[in-house]
Amino acid sequence: MDDQPKDSLSPTARETKGTLPVGKSQGQRSAEIVAGIRAELMPTPEYIAMSRVSGRVAASLILRLGRGDNQAKIHVVAALPIVFGNIIEQELHDKPNAHFVELAAGFLPRGLQLARKFPTLRVTEIDLPEVMAEKRSRIQRAGLAVPGNITWLSADLAIQTLGSLLGEEKVDIIAAQGLLSYLALPHVSHVIASVRAVLRPGGLFVADITHEADVRVTSEGKAKTAISMFQRNAGKWLGTVRDEQHARDLFMAEGFSSVEVHPIKPLAEALPNVPKPVYNIVFVVVARA
Ligand SMILES: C[S@@+](CC[C@H](N)C(=O)[O-])C[C@H]1O[C@@H](n2cnc3c(N)ncnc32)[C@H](O)[C@@H]1O
Repeated sequence: MDDQPKDSLSPTARETKGTLPVGKSQGQRSAEIVAGIRAELMPTPEYIAMSRVSGRVAASLILRLGRGDNQAKIHVVAALPIVFGNIIEQELHDKPNAHFVELAAGFLPRGLQLARKFPTLRVTEIDLPEVMAEKRSRIQRAGLAVPGNITWLSADLAIQTLGSLLGEEKVDIIAAQGLLSYLALPHVSHVIASVRAVLRPGGLFVADITHEADVRVTSEGKAKTAISMFQRNAGKWLGTVRDEQHARDLFMAEGFSSVEVHPIKPLAEALPNVPKPVYNIVFVVVARA
């Protein structure tokens, strides 16, 4: 993708100006701000190592702008990795030799954590080149151990296909946390089709997508300025669905054999370690090939 002409890149992958100094594309800025918010909310050593000072400053500005609004909205950022982690680990339980692919991995430490915990698992993380390059150097600078079973690839996932990146290789589990909501619906369908094409029969795709009506409510009140600052830098939530059926239809249309659509709130609030309450802004989709 490094050789691709810049104007053939998708909107979140293109170089654009933001108002916060945290990256050159909407994608990179979204990765930095989300990593910063996580490190502010849950300052674990790995979350801090995987964020950088400018990302944490941007995050604290956004958190400050939204202060006084419903905390449940910001809890979604903390809840997503726990909900996804839980679904992925349940699926991995009896598949120790599986191939797990994380799309739009950003600065999530999940790939490293899973690769360490399941030494026979193969982990592939994919994101934009600037994000992957920065992630690798951040891991090196922090002195985090890199297991031999993790691979990093870069791509514009809204345009390229996973088949072109992975060749003949098939995959057991694919996750896309915080990707689809930033893509226009034709690009969302491209990603879903691209995932479906590389999953083994019975393989699992877990992804989140934003609920249109809840975006409106989330963007009201004190959170309004915070969300507009976030979106000016990270991109608007274009990948929204009207309801659960709309989400299901998007996945079924690309050939998945079963699709479960869960509002995040009950999934998140059933788990320990999730700061509660959790606002219902996204659906978590669990689709089986
Ligand atoms: C909101 S961040 C989420 C990152 C990570 N999954 C997390 O939860 O921290 C969105 C991610 O999608 C990636 N992204 C956006 N557009 C992309 C594209 N067209 N191709 C590949 N990655 C993209 C960004 O670089 C960023 O890492």
